[in-house]
Amino acid sequence: MAQLLITGGAGFIGSHTCVVLLEAGHSLVVLDNYSNGSPEALQRVASLVGPDGARRLCVVEGDIRNPSDLERAFHAAPAGAPVEAVVHFAGLKAVGDSVNDPLTYWDVNVGGSRSLLAAMQRQGCRTLVFSSSATVYGFPTQVPIAETAPVHPINPYGHSKAAVEQLLADLAASEAGWRIARLRYFNPVGAHPSGAIGEDPLGTPNNLFPFITQVAVGRRPVVSVFGGDWPTQDGTGVRDYIHVMDLAEGHGAALEHLLTQGDTLLTLNLGSGQGHSVLEVLRCFETACGRSIPHQIVAQRPGDTAITVADPSRAQQVLGWRTQRSLRQICEDGWAWQRANPQGYRP
Ligand code: UD1
Repeated sequence: MAQLLITGGAGFIGSHTCVVLLEAGHSLVVLDNYSNGSPEALQRVASLVGPDGARRLCVVEGDIRNPSDLERAFHAAPAGAPVEAVVHFAGLKAVGDSVNDPLTYWDVNVGGSRSLLAAMQRQGCRTLVFSSSATVYGFPTQVPIAETAPVHPINPYGHSKAAVEQLLADLAASEAGWRIARLRYFNPVGAHPSGAIGEDPLGTPNNLFPFITQVAVGRRPVVSVFGGDWPTQDGTGVRDYIHVMDLAEGHGAALEHLLTQGDTLLTLNLGSGQGHSVLEVLRCFETACGRSIPHQIVAQRPGDTAITVADPSRAQQVLGWRTQRSLRQICEDGWAWQRANPQGYRP
């Protein structure tokens, strides 16, 4: 079992991955500045994993851009255990904000990753799992999308993820010993089946799933469906929704692989390989929550694509990992979280 550093472990994907890694027996230091995560999420992670797991979780509040915060995190493990690997979630992820404020996106996502990598080099830690995104593919030329598809992001958020991917490739080529996985997520949704942790976006959600859950719980009046005239089966956009617990288990599998097989640079799509339209998601969620979800078709959102679906076969070949949970389970678990926590982690 390894001593790990998890940046952004208090966020949506980070907190679920902490549960999976603690249950697998690893020891974690979480570094988070709580810009889009909550200390409460980590308290709940600790309760979910029980006293033995909670003893292996250590939390440091700090920013990946600050070398002294990184230094503290690398030395925070009990008995000074050295960090063997880093799982790097910390970053900003709102496409619209990235268009309005590219400097901040490059600072946090690219500058922050650079600062983390420099700290890893100083500490002699060269094993990293990085949160990338299907956003690096931009407008796909072919679906399902394989990892060999061109990287051609279309907004500053995507550029920042592609830049870090490139930096990681440059680093892996520069010096022996790096073991890096670049994981390209499709659409992470759902929640831990307990309903204790889940997605808690700041302000108005940009993404479909949290918007639906907030309408279902009465926080917002209506879901706007962005376009009913896409070239898809029902005219609404099709995406590859992946249950956040499947995604978390994908990180566990990638980490195990790096620690045992020692690949230098691995690039993997994490998706289900299944596409679902906006209307399908709405219908499935209505069944899960037993309520009707008011929605209206509005204009297409600029920058959207008709269909984005992963070819996840490489992850299955390399890691022996594939998604296990259906859209129905995504909706049931997402609803369990939102119903029990209508205001997210806020009281
Ligand atoms: C978005 C980002 C992507 C990012 C991902 C993270 C954009 C253009 N893309 O992907 O870069 O990696 O989130 O999860 O922002 N929809 C509605 N109504 C809504 C919201 C969304 O109809 O209120 C539709 C969209 O048009 C799309 C689908 O729902 O067809 C999913 O949208 P969303 O959840 O925002 O994810 P992506 O656009 O796939």
